Amino acid sequence: MKVYCVVLFQCFLFALSNGAADTAPRPALINIGALFNFNSTIGKVAKIAIQEAVDDINSNSSILNGYTLNLALKESVCNGFLGFVQAIQLMQKEVVAIIGPQSSAVTHMVSLVATELQIPLLSFAATDPTIKPLNSPFFVRTTLCDDYQMTAISEIIDQFGWREIVAVFHNDDYGRNGIAALDDALADKLGRIDST
Ligand SMILES: *[C@@H]1O[C@H](CO)[C@@H](O)[C@H](O)[C@H]1NC(C)=O
Ligand SMILES: *[C@@H]1O[C@H](CO)[C@@H](O)[C@H](O)[C@H]1NC(C)=O
Repeated sequence: MKVYCVVLFQCFLFALSNGAADTAPRPALINIGALFNFNSTIGKVAKIAIQEAVDDINSNSSILNGYTLNLALKESVCNGFLGFVQAIQLMQKEVVAIIGPQSSAVTHMVSLVATELQIPLLSFAATDPTIKPLNSPFFVRTTLCDDYQMTAISEIIDQFGWREIVAVFHNDDYGRNGIAALDDALADKLGRIDST
């Protein structure tokens, strides 16, 4: 729950810093979005936690100095054009920041628009190592990327003395780039992924 509170607070700071130069009065309501597949285990847990965190913050007006967070939840599939469209629909609701996307494949497509509209994406689930601050400056990953996880997996493989392994993965950006990271990590240990 603390992590969500910190994330929400970061959204709020973004909102303030974006609006600081304007002389127009700031709205008392701050829209934030959440983009998940709420039918998945991660999505179900995230929904409860995010709603609880928003309630916590809104219940004490001294935390945001009178501002109220308004949460817009958007159901999103985990890949493809439909996921992209769902993200754009959420951005149309004038959100100052989005928690998500849940998937790296959708993040790849959405991050360009997010950069253009200057809407930060804060994701704790999109771990594809090729999504980097250099090409996606408005993407904030609040977890470790696959480079770290694959280094750990290659250590385990090396520990057992295996020199060749078979990888089973999703044939999308997320799966391929995660496995590429594993391939790199294994090369350091003189191991390899069977490519047949
Ligand atoms: C959610 O999951 C249920 C059961 O697994 C399924 O019947 C339903 O179609 C799913 N809904 C969506 C929107 O994916
Ligand atoms: C409300 O938030 C302020 C600032 O974070 C804190 O000092 C205070 O104890 C909170 N009040 C309640 C009732 O939780």
